[in-house]
Order: sequence, then C-alpha cells, then structure tokens
Amino acid sequence: MSTIMEEVLKSTEAISISGLSKTFNNDLYVLEDVNLTIKSGEFFILLGPSGCGKSTLLNLIAGFIEKTSGDLIVDNENVNRPGRNRGVVFQQADSALFPWLTVKENVEFGLKMKKTPKEIRNEASTRFIELVGLKGHENKFPRELSGGMKQRVQLARVLANDPDILLMDEPFGALDAMTRRTMQKELVRIWRETNKTVIFVTHDIQEALLLGEKIGVMSVGPSSKIDTIYEIPLSYPRNFADKEFNLFYQKIQSHFD
Ligand SMILES: Nc1ncnc2c1ncn2[C@@H]1O[C@H](COP(=O)(O)OP(=O)(O)OP(=O)(O)O)[C@@H](O)[C@H]1O
Ligand SMILES: [Mg+2]
Repeated sequence: MSTIMEEVLKSTEAISISGLSKTFNNDLYVLEDVNLTIKSGEFFILLGPSGCGKSTLLNLIAGFIEKTSGDLIVDNENVNRPGRNRGVVFQQADSALFPWLTVKENVEFGLKMKKTPKEIRNEASTRFIELVGLKGHENKFPRELSGGMKQRVQLARVLANDPDILLMDEPFGALDAMTRRTMQKELVRIWRETNKTVIFVTHDIQEALLLGEKIGVMSVGPSSKIDTIYEIPLSYPRNFADKEFNLFYQKIQSHFD
C-alpha cells in the first residue's frame, strides 16, 4: 500500500516515462530506454541536435504516434491517443491554422467542437486573444498576419482549450530573432499566469536557458535517450549577459562539442 506522501507525490507528476522505446517499421530504434518525470506546472525543455528524436518523443506524449515499448503515463493514465489534457503548438503555424477562419474563429474552434455555448466561447477567445497580445486583430484572416502573429493565434487557440499540458515543438523556430525574443518573453509570462505544464522542444541552447526550469539534454540518435537533466535555478526574466547563464551555456554546449 502506498503512503499518503507517495500519493501526494504521484498527484503532482504530470508525465511519467520509463523504459520508453520507439522504432518505426522495426528499423533502428529512434528512442531507446527514455526515462523522465515531469512535474505538474513545470517548464521542461527537450534539447538535442536535429534528428535525435525530440519530435518523436513529443508526438508520443501527444498520443499522435504509438510507442514500441515502455511506460508512458500522463495524469496517471496510459497514453494511447490524443487527449484534451494535452495541447500541441506546432512549428509551422501555417499548417495548423484554418485559413478560411478568422483569428477569433480559429481560437474558438476547439470550444465549438466541444459544443461550448457561444457566450463562453466569446469570453474565452476575448481573454486569450488579449493574453497573447492580439487585441484588435480578431477579425483578420491568417493570410493577413505576420509569422509571429500566427504563432500567437496558435498559442491562444491551444490555451482556449485549457489543456493542463502544453506540448510545443520548436514553436518559434521559423520566426526572426526579434519576434522570437518577444514570443519567448510572452510565453514565460503566460506560463506563470496560467500554471500550465510546458514541454518545449528546441535545439537552441540559449532559448532553452531563457525558458526552462529544467533542461533535458538528449543524446545523438539512433537509440537516443535523455542524457542529463539540468535544473536551472535562475530567476525570470533571464538575461543571457548573466554570468551564471553563461556557465550553464558552456556546460550544456560541452555535450555537443
Ligand atoms: N514517421 C516516421 N517514419 C520513419 N522514421 C521516422 C518517422 N518520424 C521520425 N523518424 C526518424 O526518427 C528520427 C528522429 O526524428 P525526429 O523528427 O523525432 O527528430 P528531431 O529531434 O525532432 O529533429 P529536428 O530537430 O530536425 O526536428 C529521424 O532519424 C527520423 O528520420
Ligand atoms: Mg523535430
């Protein structure tokens, strides 16, 4: 029988992964024996070089693809399909947004599918459009927006669905450096306001250090796993001119030298 303490600990675990492996078509293993626990409300970064299996791991957690073996538990349940407790933000907003719907309609889409009453949908879209800084753009179509604005719409849409867990796959990768900085700051602000669990994929060490409470460094594939987890005890907003920031940067960089 488990103790009360164990029960409390378990309830704060958003994601629990052990011995997780994935191979496509019985080929080489992309991921092999991945072990990872992510606490509720944590901002966790998955960092690794291109092709190491970051998206594969995120897609497994999202329930988009099937694991080959191991345990993958979200909110104390085995994952085998997508669920409302997980919202995904993709790298390319263009393929994620509906071009024939306005900003407001895109944001309300998930709620409409759930048959949420109009007034509540309206309240939610107003709130999240404002939260991501798109007030005044409600009636525009995706083609009338910049890349950064489209990414904000995607984020607002996911937040409107109110998932506990945000899964973000290099969401700012396609943005110019200035917009990316703004979006990083906004995301930290939104995360702190909403208490969501965030799993954020990037191959950019600086981005990882600006955002994450923990950074899981993945080894080069095949048979990739999470090599080391760094806890980053720096306060927000973070500054890359900071001495400690740079010490972490060098430590993490040494994995890839
Ligand atoms: N559906 C699939 N079928 C076969 N192989 C796949 C599939 N998806 C991914 N892979 C392979 O799995 C490996 C990891 O791919 P993945 O997309 O997870 O990497 P990544 O770390 O996200 O890379 P990037 O930073 O470039 O996005 C690659 O070798 C890729 O070819
Ligand atoms: Mg990827």
